[in-house]
Amino acid sequence: MISPDVWEEMGNAAVAVRDKAYAPYSGYLVGASVLGSNGRVYSGCNVENVSFGLTICAERSAVVQMVSDGCREIEAVVVATRDGGTPCGMCLQVLLEFAARPAHLQVRCTTPDGRAKEYTLAELIPHGFASEIKKK
Ligand code: THU
Repeated sequence: MISPDVWEEMGNAAVAVRDKAYAPYSGYLVGASVLGSNGRVYSGCNVENVSFGLTICAERSAVVQMVSDGCREIEAVVVATRDGGTPCGMCLQVLLEFAARPAHLQVRCTTPDGRAKEYTLAELIPHGFASEIKKK
């Protein structure tokens, strides 16, 4: 169970980092935070590029921060957008890589003013790729 204090910290982090998003082409700002199994909160924003396919999503930015800090397990996710949008398929697969129990990993999708919907990662990506080559 994630405590209300930690959800609040994660929500604040996602909303704050959303303000740093570099999204001059879409105008769609995204902030994400992930709670690592070490208890730390990592955040990231989307970073677009004039060569559109090079865009990095907020969720993957946050995961890269976590892994770069030496943590490899996600306990919870918050995504902040203007309309409560859910993570894209590519980000869902990346989140899955670091999810020990996808059916228990909560993904909270919120607006900056706190209108939130909650899903589990397994709900959002029920049949994600998981081959036997995946390291435990
Ligand atoms: N975006 C994210 O940051 N995360 C997602 O899961 C979906 C989309 C970004 C990419 C692009 O900068 C903008 O939102 C519009 O697609």
